[in-house]
Amino acid sequence: MKNTNVEYAPQLVALSRTELLAKISAQLSAGRFAHVQRVEQTAIELAQKYGVDVQRAGLAGLVHDYAKQRSDSEFKQIIRQQQFDPDLLTANNGIWHGVVGAYLIERELGIHDQQILNAVRRHTVGAVEMTDLDQLIFVADFIEPGRDFPGVDQARAAAAESLIAGVRFEVSHTLKFLLAKQVKIYPKTIDTYNAWVAQKK
Ligand SMILES: [Fe+2]
Ligand SMILES: [Fe+2]
Repeated sequence: MKNTNVEYAPQLVALSRTELLAKISAQLSAGRFAHVQRVEQTAIELAQKYGVDVQRAGLAGLVHDYAKQRSDSEFKQIIRQQQFDPDLLTANNGIWHGVVGAYLIERELGIHDQQILNAVRRHTVGAVEMTDLDQLIFVADFIEPGRDFPGVDQARAAAAESLIAGVRFEVSHTLKFLLAKQVKIYPKTIDTYNAWVAQKK
């Protein structure tokens, strides 16, 4: 992997790269910290390929899992205090670290850019409407070079074809995986599937 060393524009984040990395690594295990740096690099490469804003893509990739290791009780407290959709209380970390994570990223890292925050919000289950940046982060998280699961090569091939193909493959693959495990499926995951796969948008 290339060594990413991007300094982000002060309009996007006031912290220097060193300060930003210190704050992120303080919240994450070594393995997950390595993951977010690989997602950053993958996001930058996809942004260059597809003509998406490289700074926003890299920064969104770097921060996307910032809140992943917060406790369930902290997430629930924020959902109540900040009056998020009360239905979120029945979800879990898999959903919270995106939707509620964006709140923590804004508050603790001082990133106010709505395009970046939306890409973080949507990286877990996708959404019916996704911008190019949303699609890019959703896909980069799934195909970063550390990922190793049956189907990852197909996922990478789809992402090399187009962002939409990458999203479609990921949404189908994830839904099949959840069905096979017979776990509860968050309704927004079905909405994303219907919008991106069933209707062949
Ligand atoms: Fe995540
Ligand atoms: Fe991730």
